[in-house]
Amino acid sequence: MCGIVGYTGKQKAAPLILEGLKRLEYRGYDSAGVAVPAGDHFNVAKKTGRVANLETIAARHKLLGHCGIGHTRWATHGGVTDANAHPHVSSDGKIALIHNGVIENFTSVKKFLLEKGFTFQSETDTEALCNLVAYHYAKEAMVEGDSRLLESVRKTLRHIEGTYGIVVLSLDMPDELVCARKGSPLILGIGDGENLVASDVSALVSRTQNVVYLKDGELARLTPDSFSLSTINEGEIEAVIDTVTWSITDAEMGAYAHFMEKEIFEQPLALENTMRGRFSEDGSTALFGGLNLSAAEFRQIDRFMFCACGTAWHACLVTEHLIERFARVPVEVDYASEFRYRNAPLHPNTLFFFMSQSGETIDTLAALREAKRKGFRVLAVNNVVGSTIARETDGGIYQHVGPEIGVASTKAFTSQLLIGAMMALYIGRMRDMSFSDGAAYVAALKGAPDLVRTVLQQAPHIRKIAERFSTYTDMLFLGRLSLFPIALEGALKLKEISYLHAEGYPAAEMKHGPIALISERCPSVFFVTKGEMFPKVVSSMQEVKARKGLIIAICTEGLELPDGLADELIVIPDCHEAVLPIVATIPVQLLSYYIAVNRGCDVDKPRNLAKSVTVE
Ligand code: M6R
Repeated sequence: MCGIVGYTGKQKAAPLILEGLKRLEYRGYDSAGVAVPAGDHFNVAKKTGRVANLETIAARHKLLGHCGIGHTRWATHGGVTDANAHPHVSSDGKIALIHNGVIENFTSVKKFLLEKGFTFQSETDTEALCNLVAYHYAKEAMVEGDSRLLESVRKTLRHIEGTYGIVVLSLDMPDELVCARKGSPLILGIGDGENLVASDVSALVSRTQNVVYLKDGELARLTPDSFSLSTINEGEIEAVIDTVTWSITDAEMGAYAHFMEKEIFEQPLALENTMRGRFSEDGSTALFGGLNLSAAEFRQIDRFMFCACGTAWHACLVTEHLIERFARVPVEVDYASEFRYRNAPLHPNTLFFFMSQSGETIDTLAALREAKRKGFRVLAVNNVVGSTIARETDGGIYQHVGPEIGVASTKAFTSQLLIGAMMALYIGRMRDMSFSDGAAYVAALKGAPDLVRTVLQQAPHIRKIAERFSTYTDMLFLGRLSLFPIALEGALKLKEISYLHAEGYPAAEMKHGPIALISERCPSVFFVTKGEMFPKVVSSMQEVKARKGLIIAICTEGLELPDGLADELIVIPDCHEAVLPIVATIPVQLLSYYIAVNRGCDVDKPRNLAKSVTVE
């Protein structure tokens, strides 16, 4: 959850590290810190709050070195205080360390170190790790030259249980960084006369596009002109250098007020990028290059299981609906965090999909490993190329929507909905879906970006509705079938960025309990569509109205609602069932965004949240 940056090269390290930390702030933002070696001590600046606070105090410290480490924290062990912020320095003053993850055996490690005379300034598990490196470093005094810090870190990690991405500095080798990962992402940036390490590519791309994705159990040693890789148990290994395909401007806000706003408005382009090159020449089905499964193998699957967390889980629910509707194959969806412990009985011919924008969510990763351990074939839908989940699956589908920086997922969600719709088509066409139905389906998907553009044009209207509802404290989101997950997503968006209490339900479920919440002070957002659900949803709306509840209706065009039933109306295009969830999502994203802005909330960095949840 934390952000990590390390730099060694010819430039002053601190300004580059601070720039990198700003780009990583979305990963955690309780506190931040930076350390550089300064002769016989480390110069450390750390402060609770945002990186901007750190910048103010960093100016007062003499952070002059050409090698350094920096960190943004999302608290796990120990409260949000300056002392608990990273970097931590060992009590003998020789080692500085930053850490993302959780050290599970830190109590016994700390006890051991206290007995050895080490002291502690913070409540963190990280400080125990830092002092343990210092303990081994002192013992490795006889190791000549280059490998002393590396060997000390290697020995330390053999005694550590838990997860980590760490970067370590020693006073004796002031231009050397040693880093290691297990469970928390770390990426090396290979530059010209400089090398970097970070928990996220976005902190590296302003300096280099050549990267090495560290795997679990690997260590790296970086100096300005060299880097080497090894494993915790064995010797050196060869590194594979990848090239990042996006540039720094993709991770910048441009003229928008927030990343979330930018990412909402980027959705037509994001959808185009997701589907580019993924339809058959005859225009009747989808193509996925990276599944590593032949059509014949895919055809044999009896069941699909989707696991994910948060917004990605909502995308899985829509995918379930579409696959069952268009391909008539049973689908199960589980929270990754539940699946990993549930030990569910599984049909032997099940194909697993793990959906995750970041590809680093620890619960999703653990669920994937559990399915793999049981011998199932596992595939993934990910946005971040080279992420841990992407590397551990047997194959998968990249979303290609570029970096998503806003903590509240928007463009990644609609892209996941699109991939779900394309999967339903792909599987459907292998079974009973006709050529003409397939062709109509493809044409509808290709038209989705333009439909999203027309809904985005209603932003000023939705902004006005948001003004009216910004002072309410509760809201219900109600939809049926494939729009029930969009109701869940609308409620989640509103909760996470505006701190309003919101709940999503299938519209007909409202009368089984949530109706007790309805009053003039608890408005409801209804998704209203044509077909057999129309009169049912209208009845649910009447029940709300009868209890003085206000209604915002998100309604497909061409429908006539009874007079006075909706207090506010947002009309969306009538479209193919596979596209409808995408189009219906846009108004709830905009509504949540404008409500949060009106309430003065920090939209891109909502309280208590982090972009990717890499701790359990
Ligand atoms: O990176 P992932 O898709 O695995 O993330 C899963 C959730 O943590 C994420 O969707 C979260 O719910 C977002 N804050 C939603 O906006």
